[in-house]
Amino acid sequence: MRVLVIGSGGREHALIWKIAQSKLVDKIFSAPGNGGITTQAECINIKAEDIFSLLEFASRERIDLTVVGPELPLSSGIVDEFTKAGLKIFGPTKQAARLESSKAFAKELMRRYEIPTADFCIFDNPREAKRYINHKGRPCVVKADGLAAGKGVVVCKTVEEAERAVDLMMEERIFGEAGNRVIVEDCLEGEEASIIVFTDSRKVIPLASSQDHKRIYDNDRGANTGGMGAYSPAPVVTPELTHRIIETIIYPTIKGLGEENIFYKGILYVGIMVTADGPKVLEFNVRFGDPETQAILPRLNSDLVELMILTIEERLEQARGREAGDLLWDKRPCVCVVCSSAGYPGKYEKNKEIFGLEEIEKMSDIIVFHAGTKRIPISDSPLPYKYVTNGGRVLGITGLGNTIKDAIEKTYRAVERVNFDGMHYRKDIGRRAVTLSVI
Ligand code: AMP
Ligand code: GLY
Repeated sequence: MRVLVIGSGGREHALIWKIAQSKLVDKIFSAPGNGGITTQAECINIKAEDIFSLLEFASRERIDLTVVGPELPLSSGIVDEFTKAGLKIFGPTKQAARLESSKAFAKELMRRYEIPTADFCIFDNPREAKRYINHKGRPCVVKADGLAAGKGVVVCKTVEEAERAVDLMMEERIFGEAGNRVIVEDCLEGEEASIIVFTDSRKVIPLASSQDHKRIYDNDRGANTGGMGAYSPAPVVTPELTHRIIETIIYPTIKGLGEENIFYKGILYVGIMVTADGPKVLEFNVRFGDPETQAILPRLNSDLVELMILTIEERLEQARGREAGDLLWDKRPCVCVVCSSAGYPGKYEKNKEIFGLEEIEKMSDIIVFHAGTKRIPISDSPLPYKYVTNGGRVLGITGLGNTIKDAIEKTYRAVERVNFDGMHYRKDIGRRAVTLSVI
């Protein structure tokens, strides 16, 4: 098979790394890809949002399967266009992708089908949003309706903070059209968890659990980022909790969509707050998480491409190697530590040479997933290439270990051997899993 993977982050590198292991695959293309992906796939210079150029490329190159990494092309309808043209593509349609591209759509769907989530109100008008916030008079969460690169959620301790968030989104329009509507919802308390599943709109198969680290600094301090590291499995997500989330949240969501003639196929990622009242939905994503994917896929022993094809063809119940609904997993825990550019998630510089990669690539149980990197040919050197930074999140250094502690130690030993000017990374990725595992 000839496979095209759309996107350029660490998630896409991990997908390609795993897809390359499938016996079904002969050749992989990546659009646009990154420096590290160039060793496993042919990178083509088409942006992930340029649906029509991607469609033209996939037709011309007789691509058998297209895999979409990021949410933007999904929410713009790439799956609808490819399907119309008779091309196989993995991911939800534009309508189904509204679960992520419109938080108002997702919340209203949850209300209609009694799916547990925080109480909320939706506003098109900033004055009414502020009146509601004042009337409630307690901490709340203000969310921009549309896509805002993971930055459109403000958890507010005071009425003033919430009013300010409404102003930023609706008056100053910091997220553009994404802030035309806002959702004001109750603040939930508890432990956060994510669950990522395959579904063909009938059958659901969960991936191993994982936990992201959203803040830039240790101990969850500082600004929110795309994700500074992840580990899998996450001890907070017990098999009982997974079962409960699937029964009370995932199946009702897919069935609810089905009642409205929306058939969800692809990956569904549910962000959960485990409250005293049970698990409640914080958000849906319609794609693999980044960097969760980097910590999950090294543990997957089942064939990812086969799972994707079965999903597209609505034959997920035929997935092989399952026991009681499980895929085949490497039991060893996995940790991914993200190395980022100085200044990220704010402004940062690019083109800093990255040192130490050849050395850590030889280390056992270590995998280096590239995100914002570029490969540059060099003459008069024993090495044909060098890598330079080309984004905020640069590398996801990933390690497997016999215990979570072992995985953490191995991964940090590798991280410490890499460097580029201004490199930043969190030193506490996975620490919480060690504490929870001990308890
Ligand atoms: P999201 O981008 O929707 O995942 O939201 C970002 C973060 O905001 C989540 O990971 C939670 O930590 C927090 N959050 C979102 N909604 C709520 C809520 N209703 N109550 C408390 N925290 C929330
Ligand atoms: N790691 C969170 C996300 O992919 O949205």
